[in-house]
Amino acid sequence: MITGGFGKIAKHFVQSFNHKYEITVADIVTNNETFSDNVQIEKADLMDFSACLKLCAGIDTVIHLAGIVDPVSESDEILETNIKTTQNIFKAAVASKCKRVIFASSAQTIESYPTDIQVNKNMLVKPKNIYGVSKCFGEALAAYHAYNNGLPSICLRIGAYEFPRDFTKMNARDLSAFLHPDDFNQLLIGCIETKDIQHEVLNAISNNRYKRLDITESKEKVGYAPKADAFELFELETD
Ligand SMILES: NC(=O)c1ccc[n+]([C@@H]2O[C@H](COP(=O)([O-])OP(=O)(O)OC[C@H]3O[C@@H](n4cnc5c(N)ncnc54)[C@H](O)[C@@H]3O)[C@@H](O)[C@H]2O)c1
Repeated sequence: MITGGFGKIAKHFVQSFNHKYEITVADIVTNNETFSDNVQIEKADLMDFSACLKLCAGIDTVIHLAGIVDPVSESDEILETNIKTTQNIFKAAVASKCKRVIFASSAQTIESYPTDIQVNKNMLVKPKNIYGVSKCFGEALAAYHAYNNGLPSICLRIGAYEFPRDFTKMNARDLSAFLHPDDFNQLLIGCIETKDIQHEVLNAISNNRYKRLDITESKEKVGYAPKADAFELFELETD
């Protein structure tokens, strides 16, 4: 089951892999024409715990992507929505005895480190905005349920997920944190299929020549094999 199923990242995954898995897509906004007939669509507001319980019943793997994506605004709504929806989904996944939750965290959890530093997961979180703070909560909650309530989880610190067709240039930060949609799909498959995971926080960027985040563990733990290099795909935006 994929939450935020009509969002940018989920749509690309579901359209690519609906033949491989039995998928339920859940979102507060739905459109029946987006997916093929074998994908089950559930319109649901994850702020409502009972809706999350219904969604998680009988589900093996939850990919939790729903939320507000906004690294600029400081609005309370970001914390309220991202924390409550994540709390509800994890609690429902525990109650429903789901086998794994894959949580969409963000590179924004560490974006206050100077840009010439490569960040690995053993460094403390240093978010640069309230959105990043909300993702730190999700990572902590995932660890809590993995070590105390028997719900395995993988948190993915997603970088700049963009379709190459939409850009010719990128600034230096986005080049070093770029994540190609097909690389992320391959990472998600590894996260679904790899056995014997209790809890991991893995970095999710492509094979960029300079990497803002260290992806060594992502390769080792779930067989991540990214192909794209943003420094070959885009020019540097200097303005
Ligand atoms: N796009 C990126 O570059 C990027 C980078 C880092 C992390 N992420 C994370 O990955 C996830 C997916 O990102 P995206 O780019 O596909 O975002 P998106 O904004 O395209 O999709 C998010 C989806 O969540 C849904 N949603 C929001 N509130 C909801 C609620 N209360 N109940 C049910 N559904 C709700 C929205 O309707 C939307 O379809 C997000 O959690 C985001 O924080 C994205």
